[in-house]
Amino acid sequence: MQRIFSGVQPTGNLHLGNYLGAIRNWVRLQNDYECIFCMVDLHAITVWQDPEQLRSNTREVAAAMIASGVDPHKNIIFNQSQVPQHAELAWIFNCVARLGWLDRMTQFKEKAGKDKERASVGLYAYPNLMAADILLYKATHVPVGEDQKQHLELCRDIAQKFNHDYKEEVFPIVEPLIFGEATRVMSLRDGSSKMSKSDASDASRINMTDDTDSIVKKIRKARTDAEPLPSEVAGLKGRAEAANLVGIYAALQDCTSQQVLDDFRGQGFGTFKPALAELAVDKLAVIQGEMRRLRDDPAHVDSIIRTGVEKARAIAEPIIREIHGKIGLLQP
Ligand code: TRP
Repeated sequence: MQRIFSGVQPTGNLHLGNYLGAIRNWVRLQNDYECIFCMVDLHAITVWQDPEQLRSNTREVAAAMIASGVDPHKNIIFNQSQVPQHAELAWIFNCVARLGWLDRMTQFKEKAGKDKERASVGLYAYPNLMAADILLYKATHVPVGEDQKQHLELCRDIAQKFNHDYKEEVFPIVEPLIFGEATRVMSLRDGSSKMSKSDASDASRINMTDDTDSIVKKIRKARTDAEPLPSEVAGLKGRAEAANLVGIYAALQDCTSQQVLDDFRGQGFGTFKPALAELAVDKLAVIQGEMRRLRDDPAHVDSIIRTGVEKARAIAEPIIREIHGKIGLLQP
């Protein structure tokens, strides 16, 4: 069976974008692949994290996965820091990747902003750690959003250079798995920016913990235009906000945007928004109930993560030993 690795940062509230763009897809993958799902806490600390928050966010992400239907018996759910081979392989990759490669990473430029002298070294080396996450398990496929494609490309470059330098096919060249529609959920306030936990406006996102009232209110207030919905997807061009809401509806309903338009063509947002709100409330209710139950039982979540850590280590240990051997690190 082919192996999937995916990571999610345990930082701040999970929102609909995380669910539709990542977690929901993982649920589908578990039947066809051996899946390793990781809360990447070492990636999280490339920018400041409050220790208590980090700990509780890590549990929260695991809970969200389980509540969404990721089966912890079938898959591996764990946090990165507890399998020390991630950090170890990342160091080795620091010595494989070239400065020029990392200099091209657009996410670093975005995250570091103007004052890059003050960004952490970890933020710069972040893609090497991500490559280590994936290659530590010789994963063959990685489900990623648009924004992570460049990092995955770097992972392939690292694997290729390593294989070339040590003259053996040690690492697979991973393939990205890109999903269908609406994997990229945009802000409810601005159709040109991604739904994000760091957006100052809470109205821009639907949090996984939002109650019915807030979900309905946020969708009602979502920015749109005054036109009715078109009959064809092509008619959504240049209407980012409308396209986003239709995309969210399609993703929640598990159909295409065109199918949504078949049902709502010619209707205004006065009709469409309440329908979308009802659908969102409905679909999220089950997951939210389960998340609450898990939040009240952190020991249970911890024991699932602990099992995941053990399973992950069991795969990682022989692979890191093989890599030591290839590089010539003495194993006395
Ligand atoms: N960089 C990813 C993100 O921010 C998270 C991540 C870390 C990841 N390691 C990974 C994703 C390995 C896929 C595979 O979304």
